[in-house]
Parts: sequence; structure tokens; C-alpha cells
Amino acid sequence: SEAVAFDFVIVGATGDLTMRKLLPAFYECFRRGQIDRTTKIIGVARSDLSIQDYRVKAEEALRDFVAADSYDDVTVRDFLGLVHYVSLDMSDRATDWSGLISLLSTNGGRPRVFYVATAPRLYVPTADAIGHNKLITESTRIVLEKPIGTDQATAAEINDGVGRYFTEEQIFRIDHYLGKQTVQNILALRFANPILERVWNTDSIAHVQITAAETVGVGKRGPYYDNAGALRDMVQNHLLQVLSLVAMEPPTAFSAMDLRDEKLKILRALKPMSDHDIATDTVRAQYGEGHPNGKLAPGYLEDLGAPTSTTETYLAIRAEIRTARWAGVPFYIRTGKRMASKETTVVVEFRPQPWAIFADNPEPSQLVLRIQPNEGVSLSLASKDPASEQYRLKEAVLDVDYVKAFNTRYPDSYEDLLMAAVRGDQVLFIRRDEVEASWRWIEPILRGWEKNIRPLETYPAGTQGPASSDQLLARDGFVWKENI
Ligand code: BG6
Repeated sequence: SEAVAFDFVIVGATGDLTMRKLLPAFYECFRRGQIDRTTKIIGVARSDLSIQDYRVKAEEALRDFVAADSYDDVTVRDFLGLVHYVSLDMSDRATDWSGLISLLSTNGGRPRVFYVATAPRLYVPTADAIGHNKLITESTRIVLEKPIGTDQATAAEINDGVGRYFTEEQIFRIDHYLGKQTVQNILALRFANPILERVWNTDSIAHVQITAAETVGVGKRGPYYDNAGALRDMVQNHLLQVLSLVAMEPPTAFSAMDLRDEKLKILRALKPMSDHDIATDTVRAQYGEGHPNGKLAPGYLEDLGAPTSTTETYLAIRAEIRTARWAGVPFYIRTGKRMASKETTVVVEFRPQPWAIFADNPEPSQLVLRIQPNEGVSLSLASKDPASEQYRLKEAVLDVDYVKAFNTRYPDSYEDLLMAAVRGDQVLFIRRDEVEASWRWIEPILRGWEKNIRPLETYPAGTQGPASSDQLLARDGFVWKENI
């Protein structure tokens, strides 16, 4: 694709996200020739740094976070020429904005993006100040990072507040899971392969399980995480998005409107959780001290440096989708920090043979979408065991490793998303009604947990969560699939 020229303002430019993700992603896009040399990437933060100071920081970030085989000194130097810095509190409309304004192109047709990577309470003041300073041209867009609020009411405040200045077509709510190639590939698998789509329903599918397991603890993000917890941090956004891609009806076209309409229908069809459901169909837990890989790791409270906290770092939920396609198919979701391994997967287990002619009961077939790592897809098939003299069955696996299959590097999720925001393509961004529908389903669970309807459990660091999470599936005759 042709190189585009644009102005991209990063609000919160000294933060972790900018250094770890945004600058390295832009570097890759630049290296691939997608970014014109007249482009300006303008970091804005309150710190009093010179442009040279900021470029030094940016260079360090690239050295740390760009893959070694992508890094080269000449390209880095050229790229840093695009990077600017302005010291400014962008949530304050009254200060002197002239430093920023003088860097922005006066060409109204040139894409201008404000990427707000600050605390969500600053989103509305920032949008207000941008509007007040008359910086919104026809080609201006604002990107909002998650979390959009902490519940329905605060999400509405942000959406209303930002919406006073920006139209919905200009607001890009980012969910980096939609930037993952393997998440986008859910659509290709389902809607470009009739053999899958024809069995993609309650007639053939017994259950679906979505896992996002991490080995990291809460790290330095304690102050944010302790107020959020796993439900807000991972489920309200990432995992409900994955679920809606797995469950949605085929959109009439691959367009932002059609795709988001169909995702929305799934979010709305999630069965609301009553207090009774919350007691029986959810599990919440916090990691305690443990021995991942044989090494002692502290518990959450010690990581946090606080004597008490009831924040969940692990959860499992049994969800139901009330549609003709999915009636009677449980969707299990689980996610956690400090689990035994890092893996994000979607497992679709098919229904067993209605009548077995073999002595062995074949294992039901399962389709595994490996979102990360070891990106790929596999289908297990019951097969005749060639080693047995009698007719015995054994599982065999059809397995595609995407990196090998396509012999290409897998781009980081932010690369696609940043360039889509520049182009103004909303297909991979979240619409306001999706955010609201997600919160509508999440909020009763939050409130139920606050009332302790489902007590908090603990699990040792380095394990797959508490035993009650296994019972959640065992009750229905299923098990979590591990190491797949
Ligand atoms: C972020 C969460 O949105 O996603 C983090 O805030 C989490 O807590 C991260 O670690 C997981 O992203 P990924 O791409 O590593 O699965």
C-alpha cells in the first residue's frame, strides 16, 4: 500500500503504552513503507522534555521493544526524524497550546489523529480542550484506549463527553485484541470456509471455551489493576469481543457497520446473570504465594504492597447466548494472572457421535484456535489406531502453524490498528453501543461480587486457578483444555 502522510498526536507520550507498543508499531509501519516522511508523530505529555530528550527516550524504547531483525540504525534515525515532542497538559484547555498547534498541518484533508493514552478520567477534558482549541478538522479522529469507564454510568459519561466534540465516525475505541491477526482470522475461518460455518451451531457444537491465561503478575500496574480486576481489565473488552466474533451471525458485508451490528446482537443476547447465576456460574480468585517453575513468587497482596484487597486476578464464567444458533451451548470464559502458562485460545468442542459402533468411545472432535502464542489452528479427529490389532481409536490432530504456513512475521496488534485509525477505517474499532452492551452484561456480576454473592478464593501463583473453576465445567460434563 502507498505511504500516507498524517499528523498523529500521542497524549500520554511518556507512558508505558507509548514506549512499549505505539512507537515500535509506528517504526514497523515506517520500515514497511506505509508512512510518508512528512508525517509527524507528536508526543505530548506534561514532563518538561526537549525534543532531543524525547527522541533519546524513543530510541531506547525501539531498542528494547523492536524485534532484533527489524531494527536497523539508519531506519531508526530516519524514523526519529518524524518524532516530535510538546510539553503540555492536554486536559487543560486554558494553557498555551501554541507549541502543539504550530506543529499541526493546516491542510484540513490530511489525517490528524489524537491518541489518548492517559487515565480515562482525562478523556473528556482532553476532548473538550481539543475542541475548544478548534483542532478538529474533517479528517480528525480521536482514539480512546480501554477502559472506557468502570461501569455503565461512567462509560456513558465518557461517550457523551467525547461525543460533544467528535462524531461517532471520528471516535476510535481501540481494543488491541482486534488487532491480533489470529483474532481477525476467526472471521476468515468462519465465513470463508463453509465446512466450518455449516456446523457452527448448537446442532454440532457442545460447548466453547475461551481462555486468556497469563504468567505475569500485576507488576507495576497495581494502582490501576486493583481498581479494575480481571473482569473489567480483560472480559468487558477483549474476551467479549472474541466471544462475539466466535458467535456472531455472518455480517451482510465486511463493513464497519455490518460487522459491528452483528457483534452487538451477540453482546445483547448474552443471558443476564441473576444473583443465583452469579453464585453458581462464576468463580473469582486472587493469586497467593506459589512456585511457578519451582521459584517462589509472592502473592497478589505482596505484589500490590497492600494488607487487604478483594480484587480478582482470576475468573471463570459460564455464559449463555440466547439465540437460535446457540441455545444449549455454554460459553466458558476464563482469564487470570500468574497462571501456569501464557496462552490465549478458543476451543470449540463438537458433540459426540449419537451412536457408537466402535468398542472405544471416540473423544469428541475439537477445534482449537491458538490466538497466541504458537499462533495456529488445529482439529482433532478420532482415527483408527494403527498400532492396535483390534479396531481401536486414537486421536490424531490436523495442525496448522501460521508462522510456518505463511512464512511471515506476525505483526504486533497495534500496527494494523494505528494505520486503520489513520485511514479512518472503523471496522476493527468498538462502537459506542458495543461498549454499553458489554457493560450492561458485566455490571450485575461486578455488583454481585461486591455483595460477596460469590466469595473470593485464592490459588497458588503458577497454577490454573482454583478447583471450583474445574467444577464449573465438570457439572456439564466438560473439562478445560490445557497445553493445546
Ligand atoms: C491488557 C490488560 O489490555 O491486555 C493487561 O490491561 C493484559 O492486564 C493485556 O496483560 C494482555 O494482552 P496480550 O496481548 O498480552 O494478551
